Order: sequence, then C-alpha cells, then structure tokens
Amino acid sequence: MSLSVTKLHPLFAARVEGIDIARGFSDTDFAELRAAFEEHSVIVLPGQTLDDGQQIAFSERFGPLEMMLPHAGNNLNPSHISRMYNSETDGAIIPPEDRRMIYLKANRIWHTDSSFKETPSLCSLLYAYEVPPEGGETEFASMRAAYDALDAETKAQIEGKVALHHAARTRDMVAPGLVTPERRATPPVRHAMVRTNPVNGRKALYTGGHAGKIEGMDEDESEALLVRLLNHTTQPDFVYAHKWTVGDIVIWDNRAVLHRGRSWNDAVHKRTLHRTTVAGDGPTV
Ligand code: OGA
Ligand code: MN
Repeated sequence: MSLSVTKLHPLFAARVEGIDIARGFSDTDFAELRAAFEEHSVIVLPGQTLDDGQQIAFSERFGPLEMMLPHAGNNLNPSHISRMYNSETDGAIIPPEDRRMIYLKANRIWHTDSSFKETPSLCSLLYAYEVPPEGGETEFASMRAAYDALDAETKAQIEGKVALHHAARTRDMVAPGLVTPERRATPPVRHAMVRTNPVNGRKALYTGGHAGKIEGMDEDESEALLVRLLNHTTQPDFVYAHKWTVGDIVIWDNRAVLHRGRSWNDAVHKRTLHRTTVAGDGPTV
C-alpha cells in the first residue's frame, strides 16, 4: 500500500493521501485509489492544485465523462465541467435572485447525479477553488448503510422494483420555470431501486430527489414509500458532512451515496467548485 487511507465516518467515506494529481501517479496508485472508491464510496483527496484540463484528465481515469446539459447554471453552454459559483469573474457577488443562483438551489435537495439519465453517473468529482469560512458543506448519505438497515419486509417489497426518475422533479421543488419545455417533455427514466456493486456485491438503496414514482404501485403508496425511504437513507447516522478546504477534490460514488449542498452566507462569502461527472456503464434495468 503506498497510499494512506483514513476513514472519515464509521460507515463510509475516507481521506486518501499520497496522490498528487498534478504531478502524476502510477497505475498501481490509481488501482489502489479505485479500490478505495469501490470500498468507501466517498474519497477526499486534499491539497490538490488543478486546472479544468487536469481535472478532466484525472476524471477520465474513472471512465468517459458525461456532457452536461445546457441549463441556466451553465449559461446554456454545455461542457465537461459544471461550475458552482456565486461570484462573477470580476469578483462581484451574484445576487440571490439571479437565475444561475436559483438553479444551483436544486443541489440542496438530496439526489444522486444524473439519475434522470438512462445511464446514470458512476461518480462525480468536485474540486474546491474558493470556500466560505462557515457553511457550504456537501453532505453525503450512504445508500448502502440505508439498504443494510432496512427491515426484511421492506427489502422484499423493493426487490426487483423500478422507480421513475426525472430532473424536473427536483427543479420544480426549487422554483417554477427552471426546466425548459423540451427537457420537461422528455420521458422519465426507469431505474432499479436496489443496485449491487459489481466489485464487492454490496447492495444500495438507489433513491433520491429525482425519483418520483415506483412502477406497479398506486400513486399514494408509491409516494409514501419514496418519502419513507428518503428519510431513512438520510438519517443523521448515515450522513457524512464534508467541510471544504481549498484544494480538496472529493470523488463520490453516485451508485452508492446521495448528496446535497448546504447553505452559507452567500451574500458575503464566495464558494467556487468545479465538477466533472463520469458516466456509468449502462442502464440499471
Ligand atoms: C454537485 C452538487 C453540491 C454542492 O456538484 O453535483 O450537487 O455542495 N453539489 O455544491
Ligand atoms: Mn449533484
């Protein structure tokens, strides 16, 4: 072992030291990092110095990247980098009523990235350029811990079940009109409610804010179960809150954790993070 792995929570999440991404690292180091990712679901690599190109190249080690969709958060310019920021390039704080800021609020709802795509994301990588002195944490909830803690009856109830996911669901919780009519018109996608990790066989309860309906259940029953499962998954014991330091890159397994961003005093303090998103290897059903 040339990397050092320190657990950040009793159930998941670890800090990994011994990799300087900009300097480069061996294939053996990457294999260790990848194994740590499969095991711990959330990996924090502190003290990195990266630009977008280096972040993209590093992220591609995990697999092909997703292209972001054009939306208000990226000024309708899709790219491999999704930028979370609350200041203009000249340093001025962007007012909260700006459409870009409203769009970012969808990140404050528990979700897993790209579960509205037929092939959802394998993992996301978020790199910190500027962070507020307080607040602005990113929280992660272990969908594996959540699955393991379900009672046998609920496990049986969701085994083999499919939930329908759509991006409009979380956007509509923030404000009307955030979703373009074209996007709203795209059909929801079907995802397995229980996903099994191909390396270690661990099961995860695949849920989150984009999930709106369980197939084959009546509307009320489905809604009640989804709410119960989301509350169960995000109970405090299953949550790791990452307090950002400039230079951190955090890699999370979208198959195994939910995440959400927390608020901060955004009228005063800047927060700038860049995200790359690695595509999964296919549909979940
Ligand atoms: C994301 C996300 C939350 C945050 O980048 O996918 O949800 O803390 N971010 O900014
Ligand atoms: Mn996200």
